[in-house]
Amino acid sequence: MPPKTLVLGGSQGEHIALRLARLLGVELGSVEFTHFPDGECYIRVGVEVKGRQVIYVNSFQRMPNETIVETFLTLDALRDLGASELHAVVPYMAYARQDERFKPGEAVSIVTLAKLFRTLNLDSIYTVDMHLHRITDPTTLFGARFRNLTGVRELAKYLKTHYSSALSDAVIVGPDEEAEQWAAVMAEDLNLGYTVLEKKRLSATEVKIEARGADVKGKLAVIVDDIISTGGTIIEAVKVLRDLGCKDVLVTCVHPILVGRAYQKLLQLELLDIVGTDTVLSTVSRVPIAPAIAQALARDLKLEP
Ligand code: R5P
Repeated sequence: MPPKTLVLGGSQGEHIALRLARLLGVELGSVEFTHFPDGECYIRVGVEVKGRQVIYVNSFQRMPNETIVETFLTLDALRDLGASELHAVVPYMAYARQDERFKPGEAVSIVTLAKLFRTLNLDSIYTVDMHLHRITDPTTLFGARFRNLTGVRELAKYLKTHYSSALSDAVIVGPDEEAEQWAAVMAEDLNLGYTVLEKKRLSATEVKIEARGADVKGKLAVIVDDIISTGGTIIEAVKVLRDLGCKDVLVTCVHPILVGRAYQKLLQLELLDIVGTDTVLSTVSRVPIAPAIAQALARDLKLEP
């Protein structure tokens, strides 16, 4: 009889599934994912899942629309094939920023995605630093025990290891009010103070940032945000911090989406460094998220690594 727990990775989550299986000391299986000639997704689960506790990992990072279809086909097949427990790990939950009808007529994307998740009858969903600003009860919304973990503690561990002397005179900066939650966690872990800037979004690519008496003069400013997408927020925040006389800037984020030429634009800022986790794979994804997820899974599912 195969061991009870099995980890499976989707096309955008294989790197995390591999680490998770190692950290948890459980079997890693595979799912075949190809396309029909007309572009439709084809899924085939290549391992026995009947009666097993299955942890399926896929991050809605690159090509989110296609990855969502891949994920839903796989999870539904796993249930249908008799998995006794089904846990979805979605380190980057796309569509979460559209959590309100900001303009008349807009789709509230995360609510629609959650409705689709509800049909899968999952046991639990694990994600990382998802925008939950306007969602109070994700467990009811998604129809499964919902864990929103943080990647900020993993980023802080990385900074402690690689930048301990630079951190001796540093301040943590949240680039907007919503980033206060991440700035507070990083400040606590690094035993530093934090400040939060004020952001006004002018369009999908343009923001205006102002400082609210941030004291960064002569210090290293360590920015922490959940997402870097176009880079607009970070570019504006760096301008403000430099105007305030900071000595240097180090940028960290959990999900380095870095669309288009965002990375090249950030390079031009001559930052001390740009560091992200691997919830989204990019040039700056140097911090593995698997340890944070493995810890939560081990605790919830009573797995002993
Ligand atoms: C917004 O609320 C998020 O926390 C990020 O600040 C935002 O998504 C970053 O986007 P961009 O890099 O396009 O400014």
